[in-house]
Amino acid sequence: MAKNPHYLSQMAHIELLSTNLEETTRFYTDIVGMDLTGSDENSVYLRAWGDYFHHTLKITKSDKKGLAQVGWRADSAEALEECVQHLASIGAGIGWVEADLGRGKAYRFKSPDGHTHEVFWEVVWLREKGDKKSIYTDRYSSNRRLGANPRRFDHITYLVAKFQYGKEKAFWQGMGLKNPDEIRINDEIPPVGGLWTIGNLSHDIAVFSDPNLQQGEGVLNHICYNVDSREEVLLALDWFTEKGYTSVWGAPTRHKADEGFFFYIMEPHTGILLEIYACARLIFAPDHGPDIHYLKDNPNDAWGLSNPFAEMDKGKVGGLSKPVDI
Ligand SMILES: [Fe+2]
Repeated sequence: MAKNPHYLSQMAHIELLSTNLEETTRFYTDIVGMDLTGSDENSVYLRAWGDYFHHTLKITKSDKKGLAQVGWRADSAEALEECVQHLASIGAGIGWVEADLGRGKAYRFKSPDGHTHEVFWEVVWLREKGDKKSIYTDRYSSNRRLGANPRRFDHITYLVAKFQYGKEKAFWQGMGLKNPDEIRINDEIPPVGGLWTIGNLSHDIAVFSDPNLQQGEGVLNHICYNVDSREEVLLALDWFTEKGYTSVWGAPTRHKADEGFFFYIMEPHTGILLEIYACARLIFAPDHGPDIHYLKDNPNDAWGLSNPFAEMDKGKVGGLSKPVDI
């Protein structure tokens, strides 16, 4: 029998809170080019054309902005039960919640610095029919080249308070994620951030310390959708620019940690950056890394000078001039 040590198979979706659900929905459909796959009283559900599950992005109406929760799919029904036992045993569990549009019952939990997550096994695989149907059997909807034309959900980055990364590292190691990249100031003090992956992506989740945060605030920095090529990154930025949006960190450039070619746009009503990204490295070996990056070398930008870490040191939450509401 094959052995599989994972509790989790992938990050399946993210839920954001918006103070203007109508405008955030318009941004992600009309500007970004994602499909609206469902809605209920307080939320909308969206995905990119290359996603397989019912949704990868849920937006919920709220009087505050930011992260609602991160949704992980378990590796099997049995793995879900084992994962829940593990989370309860380390005191991270919150409890079960009922089935939602697109997924079965889920178990909520918190990572060490206050970010809420859920884990579930049952999902709705959504294969479109009609005018969204693809001629490719392995595409569950066609590429209609809408908006910025993201293909699939890739990863998220969240922030933790100073000196809290060590707890995050132990937590994600315990959840069975690989740690291909680590960020340090120097080798004499504990690391300040790292990238974590359960499959082959460069990361499902990046965690970085922000000295401006208080412990337990649970701040999300960005969500990322992948496109097929660097050219598509450039076309996407041209599209956003035509629509009046500005790249938060200037011209597209390449991360030194993970090698993704990227830019970010701010969606104001969630306060969360959207990263459009391509050509990151992939991770296959279970014992790969961590490859060590030092802040002095600016792990964010291999080619240019965009440096959120330096801006955080100047007192800007997330390195942003207009801080995310927290
Ligand atoms: Fe990212």
